[in-house]
Amino acid sequence: MSNTKDSIAYHYHERTKYAPETIAAKSKSLDWENQPLPFKEYKIGNIVDLKSYLNKQLEDYTQPDDFKWLRLSRLLLCSYGLTAKLLTTYGDSLYLRAAPSAGGLYPAEVYLIARHNSWLPSGLYNYQASTHSLVHFWSSEVWSNLQTACFEDPILEEVDLAIITTAIFYRSAWRYEDRAYRRICLDTGHLIGNIELAGAINNYRPYLIGGFQDRLMNDLLYLDGEQEGVISVIPLLDLQDSSQSTPQRKTALPSLIHKDYSNIPDGELLNYFHQATQIENLEPGVLSPQKPKDTLVEDKYNFPFCTKISAKTNNPIIWGQELSDLENTILKRRSTRAYTGGCLTFDELKYLLDFTYQPQNYQQQGLDSNPDYFTLDLIETFIAVSGVTGLEEGCYYYAPKAQELRQIRFKNFRRELHFLCLGQNLGRDAGAIVFQTADLNKAVAKYGDRVYRYLHMDAGHLGQRLNLAAIRLDLGVSGIGGFFDDRVNQVLGIPEAEAVIYLTTLGRPA
Ligand SMILES: Cc1cc2nc3c(=O)[nH]c(=O)nc-3n(C[C@H](O)[C@H](O)[C@H](O)COP(=O)(O)O)c2cc1C
Repeated sequence: MSNTKDSIAYHYHERTKYAPETIAAKSKSLDWENQPLPFKEYKIGNIVDLKSYLNKQLEDYTQPDDFKWLRLSRLLLCSYGLTAKLLTTYGDSLYLRAAPSAGGLYPAEVYLIARHNSWLPSGLYNYQASTHSLVHFWSSEVWSNLQTACFEDPILEEVDLAIITTAIFYRSAWRYEDRAYRRICLDTGHLIGNIELAGAINNYRPYLIGGFQDRLMNDLLYLDGEQEGVISVIPLLDLQDSSQSTPQRKTALPSLIHKDYSNIPDGELLNYFHQATQIENLEPGVLSPQKPKDTLVEDKYNFPFCTKISAKTNNPIIWGQELSDLENTILKRRSTRAYTGGCLTFDELKYLLDFTYQPQNYQQQGLDSNPDYFTLDLIETFIAVSGVTGLEEGCYYYAPKAQELRQIRFKNFRRELHFLCLGQNLGRDAGAIVFQTADLNKAVAKYGDRVYRYLHMDAGHLGQRLNLAAIRLDLGVSGIGGFFDDRVNQVLGIPEAEAVIYLTTLGRPA
């Protein structure tokens, strides 16, 4: 394997690490004068109201297309719709959404591209979460441009609707500066998790396309690529339309490994990195017709002397008739702001891991047994256990295939976890914290620098499943995107080669 430690992905990761020695110097006060707006406005375009479909009774539906509108309306609401309103101390309204977002800044925008079909006029739409409506801002047929930008992905021959997620970089960079790119991709992963599950509730099977020609995609949506960029393309297979079949190609495509950079100033690193991970052309032979099955990583830390505990359960979480409890859970999910410090039970931890890592156990309930991720095989999971009854305190590696916890450190880490999470009490009071990590050297060698996006989106996607499982079990949950990177490895015994990507705290809500 080639050494990729001089790649821009490595450089970005190293430069945006938090460390106790440098964090004070790095933290700047927020520029309240230039606070970003969380909603995008369009001066032109037809508004398509989606709210009315949520309120209708079944008997109100007279046209077959009404059901399609209802499904689309519910899919978008459960993916990124507004689900709560808070009043700030200054009396302003702050709207929270179905998908969590670091700092509540919501850098992602959601678009739809429709090709000519019977019910949704072709063209480009932006989802306006503030009014739960669509703005149809471009009405010409653009589907063939989408196909070109996605290297003629065969799934686009089948479907007639695709969700596109973008990021408005400044929304998140306003607060998190260059490190914001990590959170932008994690946020997008949470959103993708919702799209996957809300898709299943509404009979859509979303496919993930991570490899596309960025410039063409941005042009297609009339974006200024310096300010806003496409992050994922998600064709929606309509499971109620038997004429649509499922050809599969790789979800993740490689970009080049970019080593030719020097002296990128602070504040410009995020944008430089994003541009450097774009794809213009593919090397010959990269596109294979068959999508290789994501193989979950196996047999790490399987030492004969380490304590191994089965995390299998025969009781999957029940999501109700036609997944109605899943829909309710998505709509009521909130990030927990404080834990009591009380314990989870080991059974609860097993259920959380089962829903997150064992989707095959949920097929009977109508969920996809093998939902798309970009490159799940490169993600590892470690769990710091501070309070789980029936499980010794310490740090464990979770082997997803064997469904086994393998203990790598024995200790109560509460004090250290408080420090590692930048002094946030959520870290100290959680019963367990799930850490997603990846070997960046291996990952960049496989997918080029663009893998940084894929890894963070996959970690966010897993995080969203953990979030929903926790809420369903009446547990508390919150993601944490700010942590002392290298110290996490040192304290918990996670190998140095594993870059820590994301933390999900789980506990008893206060
Ligand atoms: C990627 C990511 C990182 C986050 N990091 C933190 C964090 O470090 N500390 C925290 O208290 N909450 C964190 N959160 C939770 C957000 O603050 C929360 O999602 C946001 O305020 C919206 O509220 P909601 O999740 O209840 O909808 C994070 C969420 C995400 C998705």
